[in-house]
Amino acid sequence: MAADLERITIRPPDDMHVHLRQGRPMRRYARRISGSFARGVVMPNLIPPVSTEAGLIDYRNKIRKAAPGFEPLVTFKLSPGIAPGQVAALKNSGAVAGKYYPEGVTTNSEDGIRSADEVYPILEAMEGHGIVLCIHGEDPSAPVLEREGVFLSQLEELVRRFPRLNIVLEHVSTREAVKLVDSLPSTVAATVTVHHLLFTLEDMMASGFYPALYCKPVVKGAPDREAIQRTVLEGNPKFFFGSDSAPHPVSAKRNPPVAAGVYSSPVAMPLIIDFFDSHGALDKLEDFVSRFGAEFYSLPLNEGESVWFKESWTVPGVVDGAVPLCAGETLLWKKSRRF
Ligand code: NCD
Ligand code: ZN
Repeated sequence: MAADLERITIRPPDDMHVHLRQGRPMRRYARRISGSFARGVVMPNLIPPVSTEAGLIDYRNKIRKAAPGFEPLVTFKLSPGIAPGQVAALKNSGAVAGKYYPEGVTTNSEDGIRSADEVYPILEAMEGHGIVLCIHGEDPSAPVLEREGVFLSQLEELVRRFPRLNIVLEHVSTREAVKLVDSLPSTVAATVTVHHLLFTLEDMMASGFYPALYCKPVVKGAPDREAIQRTVLEGNPKFFFGSDSAPHPVSAKRNPPVAAGVYSSPVAMPLIIDFFDSHGALDKLEDFVSRFGAEFYSLPLNEGESVWFKESWTVPGVVDGAVPLCAGETLLWKKSRRF
């Protein structure tokens, strides 16, 4: 990494958890993310879900066509309907991971998993074929703020049963989860979003409800944010960037029931650079966004350079038909003069 007061140059970053949706909106979201990130682990919670070899290939081709130069790292949605024998074919079709959604936990998870043992045979096959398991680690039957904490015993059980399976606890949001992931073997890591890194429940609810920040899992308290920040600033390789950028149309974020998901792709890198800069830790930036995730997934690191300029700009109220995080606010870093 090279930095002076006005300019930062890093290896092109990866977003290890992103929702690009489908159809026409997908094309806009894919182009947007390609402005900041070289690759992204693209989540499969479409309708219908990405869960077959043909579905994976088709989705990846569509994203590549929409955003040449951006590499979609595609995933399939776990369900008991997938035969363990299919896992090798999914891998050959480009899947880097399978995503575990507990039933009803978040957007488009009505067909999620009721009990982990439903998918044990698939997890065993994934372990054998070196495919990562991405987990939405919340128990939907628990109270909203306790869902991640209650899920953690299930995570421990999965780690016990599948000791060679690489597992990512997605969008870590609590200090308990940070502590647990840190203490588990090196097969277990976590993604950190920009919103869980920087914001708390106070920002979402204390002075009027801020729907752009509403997501699953919801942002938590200051001690939780502090634990996430501390581990990231320490340069802990088990914690890497995954935005969980999850755009919804403006109407879905403005009218109840407000859809869960933060659209952070347009602002993620400027916010992260500012975070490391303001903590005097720019030397840790590149590992967090460009190295630890790729290494966990056994992917080659991106080649080339990503250059960011210190130049303030105001985030538009609507970007790509969605309300971005920090709409109307002034950010300090940008990739190019063109938004
Ligand atoms: C995501 C979405 O909208 O697809 N929503 C969210 O609140 N994070 C799904 C998810 O990752 O939970
Ligand atoms: Zn997500």
